[in-house]
Amino acid sequence: MLAAIERIGRDRRTGGYRRFAWNDADMELREWFADEAAARGMAYEEDGNGNQVAWLGAGASGGDGASGGEGADALLLGSHLDSVPDGGAYDGPLGVVSSFAALDQLRRDGFVPSRPIAVACFADEEGARFGVACAGSRLAAGTLAPEKALALTDVDGCTLAEVMRARGRDPRRVGRSAWLDRVGAFVELHVEQGRALVHSGDAVGVATAIWPHGRWRLDFSGRADHAGTTPMEDRRDPMPAYAATVVAATARAVDAQARATFGRVVVEPGGANAVPSRVSGWLDARAPDDGALARLIDTVLVDARAAAAQARVGLGVTVESASPAVGFDTALRERLAAVLAAPSLPTGAGHDAGVLSRVVPTAMLFVRNPTGVSHSPDEHADDADCAAGVDALATVVRELA
Ligand code: GLV
Ligand code: MN
Ligand code: MN
Repeated sequence: MLAAIERIGRDRRTGGYRRFAWNDADMELREWFADEAAARGMAYEEDGNGNQVAWLGAGASGGDGASGGEGADALLLGSHLDSVPDGGAYDGPLGVVSSFAALDQLRRDGFVPSRPIAVACFADEEGARFGVACAGSRLAAGTLAPEKALALTDVDGCTLAEVMRARGRDPRRVGRSAWLDRVGAFVELHVEQGRALVHSGDAVGVATAIWPHGRWRLDFSGRADHAGTTPMEDRRDPMPAYAATVVAATARAVDAQARATFGRVVVEPGGANAVPSRVSGWLDARAPDDGALARLIDTVLVDARAAAAQARVGLGVTVESASPAVGFDTALRERLAAVLAAPSLPTGAGHDAGVLSRVVPTAMLFVRNPTGVSHSPDEHADDADCAAGVDALATVVRELA
């Protein structure tokens, strides 16, 4: 299955994936998912947020409701198929294909589940296009307001509402998803985005927690001017203020044993021979606990305001998304760690599982990543470890369903 989608959305120059919400690659992947569901005779639905769900042993919402279609008893598997800019092949897709593969394996073995099982592909997990991570699962769970989501814009200024309409979706259907009410547990398998499993010598691990994290947009606004004729002391240049903030944030994160990343910056008007009028930088910040993250953000913003004042430029701060610390369901994760004899580990990466953990008992399995590299074309997992992940997920389904 990974080979079948290998070419979709891959940039030939970098080898990375550009699978963004509702772009052509995303649309092709949506078709692939629906076809995989149909090939297995699973009832398929796409909710109003673009989340795709394939049901085994129960009809899709409004469908036949075959065996036990009502009540919160379904076991949900799955992950996402979208990517960060130039993302790798495994972050997201490994969880989706492993879910189908685990169900195939169980079917071959003659296993008959006692509860409905669903495989989900969540929309826009990475937030690469509209800025809010896990938008699909947040909308489904009711933790992101539809009107806020629909007004989000991409780099071309198109709103999510416009983009969905152009793809034949009705923005009025965006909001809490009824199908989630039928889910009693969610298990997301994901490639590890670190090297804990390399160090422990295990192919598969169980997640304990997700670090709190979020994205803050810092807009430094000054005055565009001529690069040659404007004396340095007359400028209101937002770039030095931005640069000083990046350097300060990096030092603050090191001190706090936290993470601060500026992976995106937009400079306006972007002329090589013009003082910029505006510099917008996106701070992705993460820390081991909510208090540590709040302190990190406070100190970074103090530094940013001081830098802006010194450069005589304005500073606007917008929280684009914020995710508090997640502790996965203790009983569920301990049960999975025991049945798999797998180690437990926390992660600094965000996941739909973190969002769903607020509304349903949730756990995650991680598959070893030899280099730990992720959000990069170099992301990798060995085939044997991917197979071990499928086996582990099949064991989990036997245990829970
Ligand atoms: C999602 O992958 C994130 O942690 O940014
Ligand atoms: Mn990711
Ligand atoms: Mn992911």
